[in-house]
Amino acid sequence: MLTNPDCIKPFNHDDAKLVAQADALLDRAFGIGRRSKTSYRLREGERAVEGLSFGLYRDDSEMGQVLRAVISFWHLRVGEHGHHAVMLGPIAVEPHLQGIGLGAMLMRHSLKQAAQRGHQLVILVGDEPYYAPFGFSRVPDGRLLLPGPVDPARLLFCELKPGAFDNVGGLVLSPSRFQPRTKTG
Ligand SMILES: CC(C)(COP(=O)(O)OP(=O)(O)OC[C@H]1O[C@@H](n2cnc3c(N)ncnc32)[C@H](O)[C@@H]1OP(=O)(O)O)[C@@H](O)C(=O)NCCC(=O)NCCS
Repeated sequence: MLTNPDCIKPFNHDDAKLVAQADALLDRAFGIGRRSKTSYRLREGERAVEGLSFGLYRDDSEMGQVLRAVISFWHLRVGEHGHHAVMLGPIAVEPHLQGIGLGAMLMRHSLKQAAQRGHQLVILVGDEPYYAPFGFSRVPDGRLLLPGPVDPARLLFCELKPGAFDNVGGLVLSPSRFQPRTKTG
């Protein structure tokens, strides 16, 4: 059950103490092998999308407000034209508080913010049954290629603007890995 106050605040990736708390939470939620995932290759050395990282805090009678869930988004470039998309993730909820709606709160809040900020296309790697109610569908097989192994059934997209995924396909890279094609001769 959601308690009052559960509150969502912007997450500052430059706050080392907060980042350490979030890292510990992510380790508890995903296990320490999480960094071997392909999605981490897309985030390495990049800055999270401005204004789209959030922490969910919950009141604790002894410790005050405690970080209990996190979400962030990352810039992507897709295909030879470098079409812009954002990658959702990681999202994680403290294990003993999963299944009571905190993840859904963060999903709804951050997708609304993403749309308001003009982002049009969101990609993620995750379980379709969880993400489908938020508007995510499976990417048609072979349409996107990631820089590492991904189960095609878990590669999902969500159009924040209708048609945003039309004509988008190819290799998905982080902005610093993307090399725009230069015209020759
Ligand atoms: C996935 C996660 C973020 C969802 O947050 P949450 O607060 O637990 O989820 P909510 O309470 O908002 O939603 C609960 C519902 O989602 C379902 N659900 C949770 N995880 C699911 C999953 N992986 N696949 C399908 N359904 C899932 C629950 O069964 C529940 O369904 P119900 O409402 O019909 O009972 C959270 O469980 C988590 O941190 N998991 C570990 C890390 C992880 O897997 N992150 C996502 C990476 S893809």
